[in-house]
Amino acid sequence: MNSIEIEQRYGIPFCKRQPLAIVRGAGNRVWDSEGRQYLDFSSGWGVTSLGHCHPRIQQALTDQAALLMQNPNSGFTYSPARAELMWKLAPHLPAPLSHMYFLNSGAEANDAAIKMARKLTGRTGIVSTLRSFHGRTLNTLSVSGSAEAAQLHKPWFPANRFVPYDDLPAMDTAIGGQTAAVIVEPIQGEGGIRLPDPAYLSAVQKLCRARGALLIVDEIQTGICRSGSLFAVDQCQPAVEPDMMTLGKGLAGGFPFAALLMSSACASQVQPGDHGGTYCGNPLGCAVATAVLDYLLEHEVASRAAAMGTVLGNELAKLAAGYPDIIVEQRGCGLLQALQLQDEALVEQLCQACLQQGLMLIPTRNAVLRLLPSLLVSEAEIREAMDKLSLALAAVRAREITLDCCASDIA
Ligand SMILES: Cc1ncc(COP(=O)(O)O)c(C=O)c1O
Repeated sequence: MNSIEIEQRYGIPFCKRQPLAIVRGAGNRVWDSEGRQYLDFSSGWGVTSLGHCHPRIQQALTDQAALLMQNPNSGFTYSPARAELMWKLAPHLPAPLSHMYFLNSGAEANDAAIKMARKLTGRTGIVSTLRSFHGRTLNTLSVSGSAEAAQLHKPWFPANRFVPYDDLPAMDTAIGGQTAAVIVEPIQGEGGIRLPDPAYLSAVQKLCRARGALLIVDEIQTGICRSGSLFAVDQCQPAVEPDMMTLGKGLAGGFPFAALLMSSACASQVQPGDHGGTYCGNPLGCAVATAVLDYLLEHEVASRAAAMGTVLGNELAKLAAGYPDIIVEQRGCGLLQALQLQDEALVEQLCQACLQQGLMLIPTRNAVLRLLPSLLVSEAEIREAMDKLSLALAAVRAREITLDCCASDIA
């Protein structure tokens, strides 16, 4: 049996997959087991911020692996690798965030944030937004506002409420005396790259403050330069001051790693034992995240991502104008770009047609195809991707696509 057949035979079938086995990656490209090359505009679901197998990440991993690989965060000792990351991240956190705890996945970080909001306020309700995505643990699914999540794994926490995204009057009505926190993405990612009014988050924050609820900003998909600034909240006008914020995905460029950030007002109420985890704050992850952060700051990657995002967005808008029968609109911010297609079937066809051209994109819910190249993508690679996308669009229009299987599930 080849590797695809083995996975099909032994894997628990939680998601649909393309019949491709990716064996190797470098920069913005990956290669499958047949030796075919793909331009990767998925970045492993928005994760490989410095591209595949970046030398700085390899170096950080091997250096730290030779020193110390595991140091339980749940007790006993301190860690210089963790301290270095905290030291370097602290000056860049949006006020009033000042305290950090590192974890292994985005869902775990959000789970901890929700748990702590309930403890710190003594309340149980969480207000979230429709079409949001915050993870796949039972707790984070309970605040993820997608139709699919609503059908699955019920019942969940009864005091939770959902309101339409970017709808302040609805938020105003939903935040009540039992609301522990509002959890919100600065740009909805899995929901289809939806950008709110720049003043939305700070208005939500004011409502939270007035009612004694906390504001949790989920920057797992948008953070670490993806939106063209270190954090997407850096672009909010007026400035937003989250009580907690979560990071993941691009933070360690491919090493499973996430962060829960808190204001000192929140952190001062935390007791030992409130949260923990055997691998949380693992020194390997800390070393890699430090290497990623160093690289991003040394090379001013945020402004580079903003500039490349403008190039990509403009090219996508041109394609959208040429294919109104397939594309409803282009939208995005920085290197978080999307095409809203006419229907779900077209997402599957276009995704497949792109693969046939050697371009990897990621579908998401609500008939959206996302383009999330690494933050180091070049203008030449963007143009190459647009040529491939243009050929794929022509093939879809001419109905020349053979459908194998399209990964329509989310991360
Ligand atoms: C905004 C947001 N929050 C949370 C998550 C969950 O992160 P993870 O898959 O690392 O658990 C995701 C994943 O796509 C996400 O986009």
